Amino acid sequence: MQRTLGTCYYPEHWPEEIWAEDAARMARAGLTWVRVGEFAWSRLEPAPGDFRWDWLDRAIETLGAAGLKVVLGTPTATPPRWVVDKHPDMLAIDAEGRPRGFGSRRHYCFSHEGYLAECRRIVTEIARRYGRNPHVAAWQTDNEYGCHDTVISYSAAAETAFRDWLAQRYQSTDALNRAWGNVFWSMEYDTFEQIGLPNLTVTEPNPAHALAFRRFSSDQVVRFNRVQAEIIRAHSDAPISHNYMGRITDFDHYRTGADLDIATWDSYPLGFLEDRVGAEPARQRAYARQGDPDFQAFHHDLYRAVGRGRWWVMEQQPGPVNWAPYNPAPLPGMVRLWSWEAFAHGAEAVCYFRWRQAPFAQEQLHSGLLRPDSAAAPGLLEAEQVARELADAPEVANRQAPVALVFDYDADWAWQVQPHGAGLSYFGIVLDHYRALRRAGLSVDIVPHDADMTGYRLIAAPGLMHMPRHLKTTWTATGAQVWLGPRTGARDRDMVIPVPLPPALPGLDVTVSRLESIRPDLPIPLEGGGAVSGYREFLEGSAETILRAEDGEAAVVRAGNLTYAGSLLDADGLDRLTRELCAEAGIATQTLPEGVRIRDTATERFWFNYSAEPRETPAGVLPPAGVARRALPSQ
Ligand code: GAL
Repeated sequence: MQRTLGTCYYPEHWPEEIWAEDAARMARAGLTWVRVGEFAWSRLEPAPGDFRWDWLDRAIETLGAAGLKVVLGTPTATPPRWVVDKHPDMLAIDAEGRPRGFGSRRHYCFSHEGYLAECRRIVTEIARRYGRNPHVAAWQTDNEYGCHDTVISYSAAAETAFRDWLAQRYQSTDALNRAWGNVFWSMEYDTFEQIGLPNLTVTEPNPAHALAFRRFSSDQVVRFNRVQAEIIRAHSDAPISHNYMGRITDFDHYRTGADLDIATWDSYPLGFLEDRVGAEPARQRAYARQGDPDFQAFHHDLYRAVGRGRWWVMEQQPGPVNWAPYNPAPLPGMVRLWSWEAFAHGAEAVCYFRWRQAPFAQEQLHSGLLRPDSAAAPGLLEAEQVARELADAPEVANRQAPVALVFDYDADWAWQVQPHGAGLSYFGIVLDHYRALRRAGLSVDIVPHDADMTGYRLIAAPGLMHMPRHLKTTWTATGAQVWLGPRTGARDRDMVIPVPLPPALPGLDVTVSRLESIRPDLPIPLEGGGAVSGYREFLEGSAETILRAEDGEAAVVRAGNLTYAGSLLDADGLDRLTRELCAEAGIATQTLPEGVRIRDTATERFWFNYSAEPRETPAGVLPPAGVARRALPSQ
């Protein structure tokens, strides 16, 4: 498939006289897509029912006439002041019980029926007006659900809806009391109306209560998005997308994505490195101008699954951003590298955020492809280079990876509700496994737990706190090497420890007899190299030990094609286990220079140098930020 580029444009920020020149310049730069509209509600409907379409009609016409395809966003992430004045209780409520204020964005509660009705109205008007517009070639719902910690709201509307959600699931408070263990601390309820939200409790709430509220909150996002998708679909045949944000796990992206045609995500490698990767300072320094070598790829592989094969980068960092603790400029070449890395992982399009740097408001210090005076910023030159390279070789053909790595939103919430040790995070654990697989030179498919696993030679599913029973046999039956643990099946659906004790895996005689979390500065060395780090389970049973701690405790056990890791391992330990399981699975591994990563497509191998030094690779010496592309031997 042909890969394309685009940008994010805000015609409402600029005088109309410059729109045509902007559009012509975008086309000259080799861009195909332009996203508009996603924050423009106050200009589309300045007062209730007073719609002003003329400017957007002309903007879309101008962009389309230049040959660009428009992605039209619904403006529901930024309800204007009058909407909030009309529905003062639509503001989300934080965990301390305070309303979140007007004056930025995403200031709404997903459970507020009045706000949902306003969204239905504006989305219907927009879809009717532009649904058949020949220049509108794709849609975006809202903007970055969950960004700025906005999924969870402790509002009265959420409380009412949560009670209803619980009543539908449990049918009676007796059943709920039993499932949650509410006899503990006399927490039993007689009616669903007595059940509150799990904030402002004196000490921690029942983990079953907390997890149920996380699931409910996710369902509210799915519902909100579905309302918009159904309206747009009724008026347009163009594909519908949503732009997810990196490391936001507060709602189930797979379920949201099931109602959409394309998953997109917003990739800010340098912002993420400082703000949400969680690397140690030396690593942050080493990658300060390049970004983490695995974090972007992890999301590319995740959103390929969320979009069921169809995904884009909707916002690509083009230069310094404004929102991380430090905001360096990328190493020359990185904007190009990030773009090609996305294509190598299967992105249909990469769009740069934003076209021109805004001289006003919150994002004044966020670079664009153009400076505020319209001169080219460095990002534009790299985007133009990618456009030329794409024109020469636009085809990138995806293929199934040898490894499936399961990422499960429900497991992430369960670990957040009950981490057991400071800093233990499911997202972090899955990312650490992903890093180890990539250090071994592997291409990886990130998949939901209910994915079809046919064709994979290694299935890795660390930390799946609740594991549907049938998976315990269907995965091993594929013949793949299956790598589970820690905390596999450690809780039932309602956060209760099951008996027989976990992991209760058919074909593997192992029982977690007890467990401990450990300070990160107290690693327990493994015999032969590497260490247990942060968390371990004490394993009983007859399964063969394949990695053992120096204190004699089994860290990883195996029988047949099933391996259970009861301990979290440091990078060296993960590297050892990865190579051992790949050898069992018949997957060739490599040893890559520090900072170099590869990705195989159906016909080519891509090489990326994330380090700030030249690196020698089988594809030649790669300069810092270097990209190489070589045909794979045909099979
Ligand atoms: C994204 C957002 C954009 C813009 C950008 C700045 O999270 O979708 O609207 O704020 O960040 O980096």
